[in-house]
Amino acid sequence: MTDDWLGETRTSYDTDAEGYAEQVRDLLGASPYLRAGLALFAELVRDAGGGPVADVGCGPGHVTRHLHDLGVDAFGIDLAPEMVALARRDHPGLRFEVDTMTDLDLAAGSVAGLLAFWSVIHVPDRAVPGVFAEFHRVLCPGGPVLVGFHVGEGTRTSTTGYTGRPIHVESHHRRPEQVSGWLRDAGFGIEAELLTQPYADRPGAMVFARRQA
Ligand SMILES: C[S@@+](CC[C@H](N)C(=O)[O-])C[C@H]1O[C@@H](n2cnc3c(N)ncnc32)[C@H](O)[C@@H]1O
Repeated sequence: MTDDWLGETRTSYDTDAEGYAEQVRDLLGASPYLRAGLALFAELVRDAGGGPVADVGCGPGHVTRHLHDLGVDAFGIDLAPEMVALARRDHPGLRFEVDTMTDLDLAAGSVAGLLAFWSVIHVPDRAVPGVFAEFHRVLCPGGPVLVGFHVGEGTRTSTTGYTGRPIHVESHHRRPEQVSGWLRDAGFGIEAELLTQPYADRPGAMVFARRQA
């Protein structure tokens, strides 16, 4: 692992923005489990009183759009300017900003809910507590958070993007109890852990949590 994980992740997603966007274009349509997770998250946000919801590490903005279409006041944040440019192009009318989850440019208690869908996968273990502390800071008390990630052990390094260009990005696979433990330590109550494709090559998990008062 290099020390410049933020820089390498940014450059990699900038390089491969179009390729990644194409790769995930039909992902939600093909996954009733992801859609169900997002529908549940939207309901939790509504039940907590509604308000702005940050999609942190939004990539090309398809999940932000999905939440918006579910009635959520969602906006997207991403580290990679090219991703944000794509999201703005493909989803005019929605708000997307360049920012990093390690130091969010959001006021304390300013969001009603926070989604991090397969974006914390790029954050090395040593930096996750700081990221979850940021999530806690920007969420209002009682605000729900949904974290999606690859389940497993160890780190995979990708050196070729979907468009064939060279990249260097690390993805950390984790057990749900590890992610839930970090969230608990940051001041979140864990409400549900949903495992998807548990016996396939690349299982996923969604952890639903809520900021304690
Ligand atoms: C695997 S993609 C997931 C995109 C989208 N959430 C989805 O579910 O398809 C990871 C995204 O997280 C973004 N990302 C990685 N590190 C980040 C950070 N520190 N702050 C904000 N975004 C970050 C990347 O630029 C990339 O767009």
